[in-house]
Amino acid sequence: MKFFVDTADVKEIRELNALGLLDGVTTNPSLILKSGGDIKKVTKEICSIVDGPVSAEVVATEYDQMMREAKILAKIASNVCIKVPLTLDGLRACKSIRSDLNRDVNVTLCFSANQALLAAKAGATFISPFVGRIDDTGSDGMELIAEIKTIYDNYDFTTEILTASVRTVNHVKQAALIGAHVVTAPPATLRALVSHPLTDKGLAAFLADWAKTGQKIG
Ligand code: G3P
Repeated sequence: MKFFVDTADVKEIRELNALGLLDGVTTNPSLILKSGGDIKKVTKEICSIVDGPVSAEVVATEYDQMMREAKILAKIASNVCIKVPLTLDGLRACKSIRSDLNRDVNVTLCFSANQALLAAKAGATFISPFVGRIDDTGSDGMELIAEIKTIYDNYDFTTEILTASVRTVNHVKQAALIGAHVVTAPPATLRALVSHPLTDKGLAAFLADWAKTGQKIG
């Protein structure tokens, strides 16, 4: 399973990348706003840190302008993955970006299996179902991940399921159990994956006993 971090915070990206666990980055207009930076400068800096795909989102809603923006974003770096919304214009842009610009495309704001089916038919590299926002409405976001997995497997679609709007470590585990290809999570959620009270307790006990031996390894 690939781990992407869902942030435009360059400091956080640097720290997580240094751990060697990062396969890519996802940003969106809200995350760019939060970063306080210019989209082109921030995206360029992120692309220089991380080797994998860095999703940068178009903000146009109409095909021609989406394509203009996609070309500008694609020029920033070779690992920019163009993010488009799950609309008819977005799907048309997805197809064109894949064939004409030969770029990875992340189709975002997916809330149904049929939307994911359309994105796969449009040749999307990634489909981003927003599990947390579905949970917020009282439905189960993970059911959608399972449905998309079944549909993509049924037809051997190569589009990767990028589980997004991840809020908890349980989302990560459930996505992995279903077989989603990628999870994108906020930095705090990625860090929380390592935590277990018994690990902390066990380490403290080992270190206490080690101190009693009076020995040194190096
Ligand atoms: O990158 C899109 C997605 O992960 C947004 O998450 O928490 O705003 O629903 P959230």
